[in-house]
Amino acid sequence: MLDRLEELYRQAADDLARITSSEALREWELGTIGRKGEITLMLRQTGQLPPEERAAFGKRANEIKNLLTQAHLEREELIREQELARSMEEGQVDVTLPGRVTPVGRLHPATRTLREIYDIWAEMGFQVYRSRDVETDEMNFELLNIPPHHPARDMWDTFYTTTPGVILRTHTSPGQVHAMREYGAGGTKPIRVILPGMCYRYEQITARSEVQFNQVEGLAIGPRIRMTDLKGTLTEFARRMFGADRQVRFRASHFPFTEPSAEVDVTCILCQGQGCGVCKHSGWLEIGGCGMVHPAVLRNGGYDPAVWSGFAFGIGPERITMLKHGIEDIRYFWSNDLRFLNQF
Ligand code: DAH
Repeated sequence: MLDRLEELYRQAADDLARITSSEALREWELGTIGRKGEITLMLRQTGQLPPEERAAFGKRANEIKNLLTQAHLEREELIREQELARSMEEGQVDVTLPGRVTPVGRLHPATRTLREIYDIWAEMGFQVYRSRDVETDEMNFELLNIPPHHPARDMWDTFYTTTPGVILRTHTSPGQVHAMREYGAGGTKPIRVILPGMCYRYEQITARSEVQFNQVEGLAIGPRIRMTDLKGTLTEFARRMFGADRQVRFRASHFPFTEPSAEVDVTCILCQGQGCGVCKHSGWLEIGGCGMVHPAVLRNGGYDPAVWSGFAFGIGPERITMLKHGIEDIRYFWSNDLRFLNQF
């Protein structure tokens, strides 16, 4: 029995010394010192030996098992190192190669301006209302007091779809009616929202006009809102957006959905009102249109114009971005030219 044990030991030790892969090592382990391995099984038979042989055999069998376990550990370590070296060799990993730089994304300049605008209006209590890009003629025009054959339609070159009455919105103003109907609770609640988003016009694309562009509409409805609220609020916005010493001017204008209506100018951000190429030597830059919400529009939103009033405005973030950064061509915004985008 003891001879058989020594024989097994020699054989196992020889085999182990020749092993070069971890799979073969696993097999060797199972066959010798594993739960059902030959050495383990022998050790278990100790109890069946005659009493006088038991002690010596048990001692030697345990010794052998320990020796083989130790040898197995050392072999395992060696094989792991060899396999690692081999995989490095095969994989041709050059650990001295500098890492690849992951390009960090950034926000589009128009998005940055939009977010700046949201922050300022949020501080003044206006929440963002996202209206739809595809509108009905009724929403985009009629409910804003522009009937089908009104000459004011000439101001908006329109994309008509093949579905009658469905168009791409030409401005964010239809969102006013959506917001009033959704938040006004049947003309009983005040509203303060801004409505940002893409607008579409069927225009010739030039340095100054694109077929798509963003607008940010604003709407405030309340029981006692007056023209002075409009002027004060827009002046505050202009100062937060363009600097505290900005002057603001309101020029009488016409929009069918406001009465009275005005256009808003700020002193030129480049020349501070002295006159330069950007402001065409006038000292002023136009940033948008505004006015008191027309009674017909209030009614279309569910409000009684005898009790409720409001102001509205519409500004162009791309135009503001152009003014701020001296960008001379609006086509850069959507042409996806990285030479332009990387500058922001
Ligand atoms: N919707 C107008 C446009 O696209 C801009 C505008 C003017 C919006 C006056 C308003 C406003 O809310 O009161 O030209």
